[in-house]
Amino acid sequence: MLRIAIQKSGRLSEDSLKLIKECGISFINSSLKLKTESTNFPLEILYLRDDDIPGYVADGVADIGIVGENVLVEEGMQHLAVEQLGFSKCRLSLAVPKGDNYQDISDLNGKNIATSYPKLLQAYLSEKGVEAHIHTISGSVEIAPSIGLADAICDIVSSGSTLISNGLKEVERVFKSQAVLIANKELSEEKRQILEKLLFRIHAVQRAQR
Ligand code: PRP
Ligand code: MG
Ligand code: ZN
Repeated sequence: MLRIAIQKSGRLSEDSLKLIKECGISFINSSLKLKTESTNFPLEILYLRDDDIPGYVADGVADIGIVGENVLVEEGMQHLAVEQLGFSKCRLSLAVPKGDNYQDISDLNGKNIATSYPKLLQAYLSEKGVEAHIHTISGSVEIAPSIGLADAICDIVSSGSTLISNGLKEVERVFKSQAVLIANKELSEEKRQILEKLLFRIHAVQRAQR
């Protein structure tokens, strides 16, 4: 039996479940359960917070997982990556209030920036030679400017509607992301074989979609 961790609720949840189903893997889907077992493939699904998935896979609590590259790279867990999955594409962007007269990145010198991705943001700012104060918060980042917590934000943008509804405009793209399959480094031979079977099915699904 192989254990896969996927996001419980959020941008990746639906696409992750869809991929598993397209692989012909059936399971009883109860939104209240945090764990389900497939009825026709040796796979157990754990529903977790996306931020927790790389750590659980690194520790072997889950054998494999589906997570955004944004979370994986922020947590310094790139070594767990097996392959990019081509869905849940998004970007990590800097945004400012839409009325701001933003010219270029140097405008962010000395400013307060709220984000859940301090490492990715710091790397980008350093590369651009900008010194700003990074304020790390775990969620609802987009409201930070309107409540006076920050001058700018750095968060995930997909459709862009969260930015618009919070009166913000995207000004810099920091990182491009998509869903990635990750795996524990020390899988048993039995688990490795199940993963091979799963990858074979994933590749067939991907080929059919091209
Ligand atoms: C991101 C981000 C926004 C939303 C943006 O959250 O924090 O809330 O997606 O999407 P939009 O541009 O389509 O409006 P994410 O799903 O990554 O969840 P999390 O931050 O709660 O983990
Ligand atoms: Mg999250
Ligand atoms: Zn701070």
